[in-house]
Formats: sequence, structure tokens, C-alpha cells
Amino acid sequence: MSLLELKNVSMVYGKVKALQNIDLVVEQGAWLALMGPSGSGKTTLMNIIGCMDKATSGSIFLDGIDLSGVTKHELTELRRDKIGLVFQQFHLIPYLTAVENIMIAQYYHSMPDEKEAMEALARVGLKERALHLPSQLSGGEQQRVCIARALINYPMLILADEPTGNLDEANEEIVMNLFRELHAEGHTILTVTHDPQVGEQAEKCIVIEHGRIAESKQNR
Ligand SMILES: Nc1ncnc2c1ncn2[C@@H]1O[C@H](COP(=O)(O)OP(=O)(O)OP(=O)(O)O)[C@@H](O)[C@H]1O
Ligand SMILES: [Mg+2]
Repeated sequence: MSLLELKNVSMVYGKVKALQNIDLVVEQGAWLALMGPSGSGKTTLMNIIGCMDKATSGSIFLDGIDLSGVTKHELTELRRDKIGLVFQQFHLIPYLTAVENIMIAQYYHSMPDEKEAMEALARVGLKERALHLPSQLSGGEQQRVCIARALINYPMLILADEPTGNLDEANEEIVMNLFRELHAEGHTILTVTHDPQVGEQAEKCIVIEHGRIAESKQNR
């Protein structure tokens, strides 16, 4: 069974057809990059896969669960239990320290555990920055906190929408290295990017245009 399977998925916002008849299969451990022009539907697709929104039509199976058949509340639970999210604008809570930002994700999932949260920060090379507020961290460091936060509840799927979109080249390299490591460890990853160099890092690249899959290329 595949980790994720989309069949004939469409998303309509009023008159806008954001996604049209998307078919996609993602196997456990795969690393997929979604590319395509602005407005082509990449974030819409991530939101649907990440249980943040429901598709207008079609079926989506995540870990064997049919997402079209669940309630909004169940969708929230699935997101919490199965998905790790990384965004372009980091979405850290400004008045909480790095380690507290991770502990809050543990709290919403089950139980905060400071030791485990510290280990997660060490994992992304930020042990020394645990007590810094987001405003006291560089962009690259904030994004690494977000990656630690995304991983803390052992999600089966990591979704990252333009994770390097706000980073300079050096920080982009650090963050991409982390994704490479996570992939090598067997995590399943979906990244959205505008940057062909970032896209090439993934095993497979899917190009979306006007809400449809225009191209699918295997990188390795
Ligand atoms: N909540 C919404 N209500 C109405 N239209 C929306 C909504 N969200 C997205 N759209 C429209 O759906 C289309 C796809 O948007 P989406 O955000 O998925 O694009 P994208 O590929 O992520 O673009 P970008 O690269 O600029 O982030 C766009 O035409 C957008 O205007
Ligand atoms: Mg987008």
C-alpha cells in the first residue's frame, strides 16, 4: 500500500479551478518536489494532502484512510498525528523560545517533554540557541527550529512549502542538507519549490501548471 494516493482530485474556489483531476501516488520513503509557476496550485495541493483543507472532489488515501470520508475534526487529528509541516514564513510563536516552540507542538500532540525537545534542536544543530526567541535567530536558524518542530511527533509525512524561499544561499544549503539526511533516514518528504536546484535534490519532480500535472521527471 502506498503512503499517499490521490485519484482524480480537484479543488475549486468559486470560479477558480485551482486543481484539476490530479492523480498522484507517493510511496513510503520517497522524496518528491512540486514545482510550477506561481498560482499553479502547489500550495492548494499541499493543503489538501496536509489535511488542512478538503478537496472539492476526488479521493485521497493517506496511510490507507480515505480523507474524503472524515469530518473536519478528524482531519485536524490526522494532521496532528501524521503530518509535519514546514512553511516559507516560519510561523514560530514570537514570545516563546526555540525549545518552547517545539514543546508546544508536543503539547498539542500528547505531552511536552523538554529533554526530547532539546534533542530535536541538537539534531538540527541548534542546541546552543534553545533559549533564544525567534527574533534572536537568523532566518536559517528559524527554519531549522521549524524542521525540528515538524519532526517532533514522528510524522509519517513531512510537507515543506518553499522551505528555502526566505533563505540566503548558505542557509539554503544547511536546510537542504537536513532534508537530504531525513530522506536518507527513510522519511517521506514533499517539498514545494521555485528553485530548480532545490527541486533536483528530490528523487522525483512533479511540475504543476494551471492546476494539472504537466510533467513528472525522475531525478535518480
Ligand atoms: N482560499 C482561496 N480562495 C480563492 N482562491 C484561492 C484560494 N487559495 C488559492 N486560490 C487560487 O488558487 C490558485 C492556486 O493557488 P496556490 O496558492 O495553490 O498557488 P501556488 O502554486 O502555491 O502559487 P505560489 O507559487 O505563488 O505560492 C490561484 O489562482 C489562487 O489565486
Ligand atoms: Mg504557494
